[in-house]
Parts: sequence; structure tokens; C-alpha cells
Amino acid sequence: MYINVPLIFIRPLHKPQVMRAEIRELSHEGFGIAEAGKRKILVPFTAPGDVVEIRKWHRKKRKLIAHDYEILEYSGERMEPKCPYFGVCGGCLLQHIPYEKQLEFKREKLKDTLGIEMSIVPSPKIYGHRNRIDLVITPQGIGFRRRGTWWDTVDIDGCEVFGEKSGRALKGLREFMEDFKLQPWDLKKAQGFLRYMVLREGKFTGEFMVSLLTDRGSLPEDVEEYFPFADSIYWSINDTKSDVSYGEPVKFWGREFIREELDGVKYLIHPNSFFQTNSYQAVNLVRKVSEFVEGTKVLDLYSGVGTFGVYLAKKGFEVEGVEVNPFAVEMARRNVELNDVEASFKVGEDKEVESLRSYDTVVVDPPRAGLHPKLIKKILKDKPENIVYVSCNPKTLSENLSTLREQYEIVESEAFDMFPHTPHVEVVIQLRLKV
Ligand SMILES: C[S@@+](CC[C@H](N)C(=O)[O-])C[C@H]1O[C@@H](n2cnc3c(N)ncnc32)[C@H](O)[C@@H]1O
Repeated sequence: MYINVPLIFIRPLHKPQVMRAEIRELSHEGFGIAEAGKRKILVPFTAPGDVVEIRKWHRKKRKLIAHDYEILEYSGERMEPKCPYFGVCGGCLLQHIPYEKQLEFKREKLKDTLGIEMSIVPSPKIYGHRNRIDLVITPQGIGFRRRGTWWDTVDIDGCEVFGEKSGRALKGLREFMEDFKLQPWDLKKAQGFLRYMVLREGKFTGEFMVSLLTDRGSLPEDVEEYFPFADSIYWSINDTKSDVSYGEPVKFWGREFIREELDGVKYLIHPNSFFQTNSYQAVNLVRKVSEFVEGTKVLDLYSGVGTFGVYLAKKGFEVEGVEVNPFAVEMARRNVELNDVEASFKVGEDKEVESLRSYDTVVVDPPRAGLHPKLIKKILKDKPENIVYVSCNPKTLSENLSTLREQYEIVESEAFDMFPHTPHVEVVIQLRLKV
């Protein structure tokens, strides 16, 4: 296989020589590591045991990444990826690695980063597990970004990690665009009309949402006819230059929200709200968080739409949630009502929460940047007895733990593979105040 990944931000420092090397292991980013002389070059879409010839590479975030290379010999450890777009699509990096090996790679990564050997709960499904995909609509095609570019798109007919409904929605969109001569969005020129189609699916309810994002203009009313299988169709506008897949909702057809359900707890999904992307594994995650909670009074910090808080309230805990995003708080309050539980959610910042001591357990699920240093200081000062730390970034978790461990000990930990075929992994750790 010959791979020549188009590039962004290249500083062409590559030397004219050609490197040959055997891939011995994967880097934390999920790239094969080729050791060529003193250099370590990271090679996408390779597996331990592959022999590669690297012609060009570039430096990105202090790492050398190959973009012009050939796999001369294939490792026996590989498997056939299910997706026909694997190797060019920017979505999955590890579909060629057997699932058991993907888990082993994640366990090793956690051991390296955190110094903790922990078990990892496999994703109950490794295809059709994603409940959300954001498809970019461009003159080059409709799909995901070509790996290594921001302007080019891999034109797809469906996405295996989302599942069958992606194919139907893509077909509907193509017919809709053709019939009404709707223009795609040119990423380089920042002009056109249709920018994104975001698909959301309640995996346990079967409810399906198609969300179309456009520049300013008007969307033909007939849109409904093209997505008869959707429970909800949204039209939102983003007339800014910024390339994001959400905007100001203008109109919806069908339901205002679709629903997802975890262990009987219902959650509303709106185009502008976040929800854990692998519902099948999110059930295991909320159960584990609930298992690690102690006492009765719980603070759900970074509560989002109340995924943990509402679940815990249903289990009988007294929950207060704090979250910076007002819309997420509004959704959390709606989720409280929907489930007929008692819990309060308010808009607030992590660094400003008060009297952590008044809670028996503090659940934290921060963004990738980890806990705010002021929050860590406050935790060390207020000393809540029990902390449940949910992390999607082992690196910042490790940094935060190194401070928290002055006063806290790790009681238990478990990892969850929320994101099969990617290098990402979610971790839940229970911390107890040392006596
Ligand atoms: C990883 S998400 C967790 C969401 C939630 N636990 C869930 O499962 O749906 C992190 C959340 O932290 C919120 N957040 C980011 N910065 C924050 C801050 N400074 N203070 C409070 N919340 C913040 C984000 O808006 C986001 O909802």
C-alpha cells in the first residue's frame, strides 16, 4: 500500500533520504513508531510487525509524522478493516488492529501514563456504536475530512461506526441537494450553502435526528420528504467563518428532541447538546460512577446534560450539578423533569464552587484539559471524603493525580473503551481522603 497523505502546516524539513524500518509498537496517538537512526517517525495506519519505507515526514507538535510512505511488508497482527474508507478517512485510526490488541494497546498506554495497571471494559459493540457523526458537505464530497487535511473530504456512502442509518441519511441528503440544486460549502473559499449534516441516534430508543447546518439562506420545506425515517429534522444556521458543526437553530420538523435511555434513565438530545457518544458503553460508565459514589449528598461537577447526576438522582442520591454551559444546564433540568427525580443543576465555574466539604462525594468529569488548578487547591483545602474522577485524557488525569495524591489515595479504578478504533480511552477513578 502506498500512502501519500496531503498536508497542512507542513514545514518541509524532510531530508531527501528514504528510511526503512520495522514498526515495533504504537505511539500513544495510535501511530506506528519507526525507528530510523536517531529519529522516531510516527507512521499512521501501521501495525507492529509492518515494514515501512518512509520518504517524507513533517514535524507537528514536536513529533515527526510520516506523510509519504509505503508499507512494504504487512504484519501478521493486522486484520481487514471493515470500513472501505479506512486509511484515508480522518475518523478511525486503528480498524486494522484486532480489537483485543486495541484493548491491550490502551491498557499499556494507561500503565505508561498513570503508572496504574487497570482492567479495561471492552465496548459492547465495536461497530454501529457511535450515536453521533458530523458529516461535512463540500464540493469534494460528503463525509469526513481526509486525514491530514482540513479542506479535503472523503466522500462516503455510510459510516460503519455509526451504523446503517448513516447510509440512508446520506442518500436522502444527496437527492435533496440534487433536486433543489443546493450548493455544498467550499471550505477553502468559505462559501456555499450546506455546511454539515449531523446524525444523532438514541441507540436504546431507536430515535433518529438529522441536523442540517447551513449558511444564511432558506432551506426548502420539502426537506422532510427526504428523511422519512428521522424522528427529528433540524435546520440551523452558522453564517460565520468558523468551521463548526453547530449553529443557531431556525426550525425543526417532527420532535424537538430525540431521547436516549441508559438503564431506564431517559435523556433528551438536541442538536446543540453533548451526549456521551457510545451509548452502549455509557451504560457501563454510569453504573461504575454510581458504584464509586458514597454517602448521600453528591456534587456532579462539569455536569453537562446531567448524564451522571440524573442517573444518580434516580438511584436516590441527593444531587447538585454545576456546569459552565447554560444550555447544557437547561437540558439537565429538562432531564430531571423527564425522569421525575429531584436534583438541582446550576450554571457555574469549576474554580468557583463552594464548600466541597458539604458533599459526601464529588464527581468530576472535566474537559480534556483536566481540573482547574484553583479547583484542585479548593479540593485540598476543603477535603471532601470521596471523589469520583471521570477522565477522557490520561495525561491530564496523571498530572492532576500527582497533586491530589498528597491527600487522597486511589481506592479503585477502571477503564472503559468508549471509542473503539481510536487511541482514546475513558477512565474512572475513586479517590478517598487519607486518614
Ligand atoms: C467531558 S464533558 C462532561 C459532561 C457530562 N459529565 C456528561 O457526561 O454529559 C465536560 C463538561 O465540562 C463543562 N465545562 C468546561 N469548562 C468548565 C468550567 N470551567 N466549569 C464548569 N464546567 C465546565 C463543559 O461544558 C462540558 O459540559
